[in-house]
Amino acid sequence: NWSMETFIEDTIRDIRETVGDKKVLCALSGGVDSSVVAALIHRAIGDQLTCMFVDHGLLRKGEAEGVMKTFGEQFRMNLVKIDARERFLSKLKGVTDPEEKRKIIGNEFIRVFEEESAKIGLHEFLGQGTLYTDIVESGTDTAHTIKSHHNVGGLPEDMTMKLIEPLDTLFKDEVRKVGEELGLSAEIVWRQPFPGPGLGIRVIGEVTEAKLTIVRESDEILRNEIAKAGLDREVWQYFTALPDFRSVGVMGDVRTYAYTVGIRAVTSIDGMTADWARIPYDVLEKISTRIVNEVDGVNRVVYDITSKPPSTIEWE
Ligand code: XMP
Repeated sequence: NWSMETFIEDTIRDIRETVGDKKVLCALSGGVDSSVVAALIHRAIGDQLTCMFVDHGLLRKGEAEGVMKTFGEQFRMNLVKIDARERFLSKLKGVTDPEEKRKIIGNEFIRVFEEESAKIGLHEFLGQGTLYTDIVESGTDTAHTIKSHHNVGGLPEDMTMKLIEPLDTLFKDEVRKVGEELGLSAEIVWRQPFPGPGLGIRVIGEVTEAKLTIVRESDEILRNEIAKAGLDREVWQYFTALPDFRSVGVMGDVRTYAYTVGIRAVTSIDGMTADWARIPYDVLEKISTRIVNEVDGVNRVVYDITSKPPSTIEWE
């Protein structure tokens, strides 16, 4: 029978034994798993841990600031922030194919991580937030490889660092409990799933700064209204996407020709199948009105009413 207190105590002892007086590096994404693994390793070995946070510019509003606040200010970890926003944006210039975009973002992440970790000196260990389900789902020894290809958090296969994966016996709900016990905020622990390639796959087609701004601002409004309506735990995942077309509208007496924002909100257990969330009309109305009024370049909002299958949750 799993007990959280015993798990934390035992794991801390194991980490100390394994690491000794050596150093550990963790890539922090702001997601639940990498946050919990960083907090756990930090509890075990303190300043022997360095966390690296790569800001690829594809995060939601306030996320980069949130990571710096939690891990830099609250936990006072050794935290290196890499501003790679320009770099990712220039790599994505002119690219429209979804899988191509995923590949570019994943590869660039690995390249930035390699370059930057070489600069900070030798770290013998690499901490990763691999969960039990990550291993089971792929069902083979290549689990880590598969995950590394799928996730932006994926790392090069020729890495000489030894892996520590202290969450690899846990399920998601157990990881959340460990995170709460370690003092992580509800905001981090209950964070909705967020794809590694981030907003890069929520801007449909070519990614530009202007389009990222539209997604970021509209997504912030959506999140805010969902929380106000008390639906944030009920709806499994909710976000906005920006299709690559404009349509005609009218504001005041003026004809507009501007972008459409799509709202995606689903209920699900594990993301494998999903149903579109029955968000009350008055909440949808509030969201729509606010997006059109507050986000420049948008004159229309649509709600995605397809389930998975046949759709996917993301639009790319
Ligand atoms: P789909 O769109 O395939 O999404 O129905 C299912 C779940 O997976 C997330 N997702 C990703 N996560 N890298 C990730 O780490 C990706 O490339 C990726 N694509 C989709 C999606 O947000 C949803 O939770």
